[in-house]
Amino acid sequence: MRERLVFIADKLYKNHNLALGEYAELIDGYDAEMEELLAKRARTVREEIYGKDVFIRGLIEISNYCKNDCFYCGIRRSNKACERYRLSREEILSCCAEGYTLGFRTFVMQGGEDAFYTDDFLCDLIKEMKATYPDCAVTLSLGERGKESFGRLFEAGADRYLLRHETADEEHYASLHPAELTLANRLQALRDLKEIGFQTGCGFMVGSPGQTTETLAKDLKWIEEFQPAMCGIGPFIPHHATQFAQDKAGDVGLTCYLLSIIRLIKPNILLPATTALATLDEKGCEKGILAGVNVVMPNLSPMSAKQKYELYDNKAYGGSEAAKNVEELKARMDAIGYRVVTDRGDVRG
Ligand code: 5AD
Repeated sequence: MRERLVFIADKLYKNHNLALGEYAELIDGYDAEMEELLAKRARTVREEIYGKDVFIRGLIEISNYCKNDCFYCGIRRSNKACERYRLSREEILSCCAEGYTLGFRTFVMQGGEDAFYTDDFLCDLIKEMKATYPDCAVTLSLGERGKESFGRLFEAGADRYLLRHETADEEHYASLHPAELTLANRLQALRDLKEIGFQTGCGFMVGSPGQTTETLAKDLKWIEEFQPAMCGIGPFIPHHATQFAQDKAGDVGLTCYLLSIIRLIKPNILLPATTALATLDEKGCEKGILAGVNVVMPNLSPMSAKQKYELYDNKAYGGSEAAKNVEELKARMDAIGYRVVTDRGDVRG
C-alpha cells in the first residue's frame, strides 16, 4: 500500500501527470506521512524555479454585489442580510497607491458579478492603473463576462484573470450552483481567457459539500490538462446564511496535500495561500508555503469593505491596516526561511 503510494508520488514528481485513477489513489492515501513526503518534493520543485521568493498580490475587493446565487457563497444575491458595497474608481486607485508604497507590484481587483463595472469603466480604470504603475501587473477576478468583454479588458492592459472552476464534475457543479450556471460555460470561459492571452487561473474549494475522491481526482486531471498559470484552492468554510450552514469546513491538511500535488503537476504554477486557509488555521499561510505555495495575497481593501466581503463565516482579513499586515507577513516568512519580494511575480520558465 505505502509502496504503491510512493511509486505514484515518484511518478508524479518525474512526469507531472498521472492517470485519473492514480490521482484518486493518491487522494485516498492522504495521511500525515504522505503529506510530508509530497510537501518535501513540492518545495524542491518550487525552489528550483522560484527559490525562496514569496510573491505578494494586493487584493482589492471592489464589490460584494453579485448577480449569481452560488449555494455556498455568503455574497450570493439571495442573501438579503448581506450589506452591499462597491468601491469607486477613486477608492480603488487609492488602494493601489497605498499598495505600491508597500511594495506590491500586482493589484488584484476581485468582486462579485456586478453590472456596475461595465467594460468601459474597467478598461478606463485598468489603463489608468497601468499608466500610473507601468511596472505593475493587473489581475482581474470578476467572474464570467463573455469572450468579447475579456478581450477588451486584456487590450486595456490587464495581465491575469482568476476564475475558479469550482469543480470539474458536472453533477457536483450542478449541486453547488443554480441551473443558469453550468460547468460547460465555466470551462469555456477559462479556455477563452487563456486563448486571449491572459495568465489564467482556475481553482476549487477543498471539502465543498458533495465533493468526493472522484470529483477531486477530476479536478486534478483537469488542471493537468488545462495547464493554468495560477490555481487558487482553499478549504470550504460554511456561511451561516446559506443552505450549507451546517456542513463542516474543509480540512487544512488535505488542502496542503492538494497544493503539493498541484505544484508537482505544474512546477512553475503561481500557487497562492488563500484567505480561507488562513481563516481556518492561524499558521495556514506558513503551512501553505511549506506545501509548495509561492504567492500570498494580503488584503488592501478599505476596512469597511473587508468586513462586508464575507464569502464565509469569520473570514480573516489581517486585522489591522495593510502596512502592519505586510510587516507581519514578512516576519512570518523570514521565520520559515522564505522572503517576500517586491516583484510583479510572473510565471517563470
Ligand atoms: N468557503 C470557501 N470558499 C468560498 N468561496 C465562495 N464561498 C466560499 C465558502 N463558503 C470561494 C469560491 C469562489 C471564490 C470567490 O471564493 O471558490 O470562487
